[in-house]
Order: sequence, then structure tokens, then C-alpha cells
Amino acid sequence: MNKAADLTHEVLAEPVTLGVEAYISEEYARAERDKLWRKVWQQVGRLEEIPEVGNYLTYDILEDSILIVRTAPDKIRAYYNVCSHRGRRLVDTPKGAKRACGKQKQFICGFHAWRYNLEGQCTHISEKDDWKGALTDQRTHLGEVRADMWGGWIWINLDPNSEPLRDYLEPAAGILDPFELQNMRYRWRRWVVFDCNWKVAMEAFDETYHVPGTHPEFMKFGVFRGWARAQGKHSNIGYDAPKGLDENQSKLRLGAGADPRISTAEMQVYTWEHVNTNTTKTLVDAARRLVDELPEGTPADKVLRHWLDSARRDDAARGVIWPSVDSQHLGKSGTAWQIFPNFQIGHAVNNALCYGARPYGYDPNRCIFEVSVYQLFPKGEEPETAWEYTPVDDPKWGSVLPQDFSNMAAVQQGMKSAGFRGTQPNPYAERSVANLHRNLAIYMGTGAPRPLK
Ligand code: FES
Ligand SMILES: [Fe+2]
Repeated sequence: MNKAADLTHEVLAEPVTLGVEAYISEEYARAERDKLWRKVWQQVGRLEEIPEVGNYLTYDILEDSILIVRTAPDKIRAYYNVCSHRGRRLVDTPKGAKRACGKQKQFICGFHAWRYNLEGQCTHISEKDDWKGALTDQRTHLGEVRADMWGGWIWINLDPNSEPLRDYLEPAAGILDPFELQNMRYRWRRWVVFDCNWKVAMEAFDETYHVPGTHPEFMKFGVFRGWARAQGKHSNIGYDAPKGLDENQSKLRLGAGADPRISTAEMQVYTWEHVNTNTTKTLVDAARRLVDELPEGTPADKVLRHWLDSARRDDAARGVIWPSVDSQHLGKSGTAWQIFPNFQIGHAVNNALCYGARPYGYDPNRCIFEVSVYQLFPKGEEPETAWEYTPVDDPKWGSVLPQDFSNMAAVQQGMKSAGFRGTQPNPYAERSVANLHRNLAIYMGTGAPRPLK
């Protein structure tokens, strides 16, 4: 193991530099299959996508395809999606789709029609006697993969000896539990194949240091200094509390300006219309009313409290109950968690914005990228959504996310330059980047952050 991988997370407070191998080397991308992707817990979908017994979905990571099935109202199981006879993939992904998804009582292989029940047992083999009794249940059972649930998501791990999901996710899981993410449902979800490494894609969203440079239009709503903290395998990011306001401000925040009633409404409307993330219609409507409901000169902390209280009340009236999270905990939780290696949860009490990225074959210059937005809905009013392939230039992405996208392919290209000396992430605001590579190095044996001297 690379000695530098022992760098503790405290060390990351000092300036470090990262080599580009992890982003651009095909050899490294190939090594990730065994050293990383076959070792880590990966988020593969939401529990509500397989609500009934027999519902299934597939998840592909490089050569491995996994079949995840609800086998009982409170139980899911995962199998390698491969027939035990001669290795045909058992469930095909429809052409152009991100994955397969549906409902079956059994799975029938398309080659010689061996059948499997939901428990993964092979229940029918034609001419079975030809094997003279050698085809034991053990030899014909689908290969089992570890599966577990947290936060409303399904997680799988290809390593039978891996630590339990809950242990793996700490401290993120414990800090995020009060947000009751399992009660949220998709508002929209899109995916695309990007021209950059999966790490470049994740790192475009794991810091707020880029906001002034990439999203200058947000500057009129106030300058917020961002932080990033190493949290073991994971990391989180947030904003320093502006003077006079507690850290609660950090997520559902006020717009800064002479009149916080107006700037908050402007920021909410802009966010709703141009990104459609990080807020809800209830919050936007409550922000719009601030100017009518509060007198001019109302101090910022009172505007914030009034806005959030009235939105909470409006939602409660339609049966949407926000969890109560005390402001100290809100501050500590920040605005988003980077779950090692490739999932980001941007949490709030009533909505969430998540990003995921994973390799697209062994080309280090490409990745599958996913964005999903969630919120609390009244029971029975959850929208029907599906993964929608959305090319980078599609107007459905709005105007803000494409600003991030434009950096990603350009970073991938830039890092290949003979003149580039390695990245130099901000030790305060981009420590999440350094921490990702500190942890990657533990798995990969190479690429640990080095002190920048
Ligand atoms: S490969 Fe599946 S039945 Fe033959
Ligand atoms: Fe951004």
C-alpha cells in the first residue's frame, strides 16, 4: 500500500497536490474494477422503484450486471445477473435504456430456458437427468450479492467480506438519519454519458469554491464562504454561517441584500426556474409572500424564521410533514455529503439533490452521470418519473447545471496536458476532493495526496 495513503484527514488541512493518473490512465481505470468497484457499497436505486414482490431492477458496473429483486414485502435480494448454465446474461437491458426494470414471478433465460424463482433458485432445467445428478441446487443457484437499504436507497456490495452497509456509511448515515430521506420521492431524474472521468464529474459538485467562477449570476444573492470536511471515507460540505445568523441558514438560506424579503424571493424563484433543485414549490411560494407578510426592515433572522415556518405550515396543511432537525445539527450536517466513492446526497428537511457517476467501460475519459431530485409529497401525489436520457445540450437541464457541465469535459482535456503539474485543491473549501483521493489511494494503492511544498 502506498505509504502516502496513510495521510490522516487532519493532514488534509494542509495544502496537497494530486496526480492525474486516477483521472486519465486507462490502466488505473481497469484496476478500479477489482480494487474499487468490486469492494465498495454502491447505491443502485430507490426502494420505491421495486415496491411489490417480484419487482426488480438491474445495475451494471463495468462487466458486472446485478439483478435486484424484492422477494418479500420487507426483503430485497441481489444476484449476479447471469444464468448459471452457460453464462448468458439473464435479464437484458432494453436498447437505449439505463437498465432493466419490471415485475416477474420468475426469470427465464433466453438461451435454453432455465428458470429461476425470485429467491434465485433454479426451478426448471430441461433434460436435467443428462447431468446424472451433478446439477445440485448450489451449482445452479444464481450467485448472491450483498444488498441492504439505507435512506430509501438500495445498496449492493460485490465483496462478500465487506463491512456492513451501516458501518460503511458512518458517520454520514447517523448525521443524515434525522432528515428522513427514506420518505422523499423522485421529482425528476436524468442521466447522460459525459466526456470526463467519473471523478471529474463528482468533483464538479463536491465543493462550492467554483460558484463565483462558474455561476456568477448567484453572486447577487450574496457571497457565502464554503467549507469541506473529511469524514472518514466520506466528506461533507457546507457554508459558514453569515454574521448574526445561526448555521441553520446554511441550507435553506436567505438571499443576501438590502431587503432579505426581496432577495430571498428572487433567489428562490431563480433557483426554481433555472435549476429546479434545492427547493420546492412550497418554499418558493412562501418566499414570494414575504414582502406582503413582513414589514420593511424586518431583520434577516426573522425573515428566515418566518419563511421556513410558513412553508412548513403550508406543507403540513397538505399532509407533508417536515422532520424537525435542530439548528445545531443542521449546521453540522452541512449542505451535501459525498458518499465514497461515487454518490453525493445534497440533503435538506424537505428535498434532496443527488449526483452519481460511474465508469463507462474502461475509457477513463467517459462516465455515466446521474442527477436525481427528491422531495416530500402528499401521500398518493408522488409524480411518476423514469430515468430520462438527457444530452448535455438539452434545455431540460436548465441554465445552471450546464455551467457545471461545461467545466467537466474541459477539465478532462486540461489534465492530459504535458504542462499540467497536478491539481491543487483548496485545503478549506475543496478538502472533499483531497479526501476522495486519500480514500481511493487506500483501495487502489496509488494516487494519495502529497504535501504541496
Ligand atoms: S445459458 Fe441460460 S439456459 Fe443456457
Ligand atoms: Fe456548480
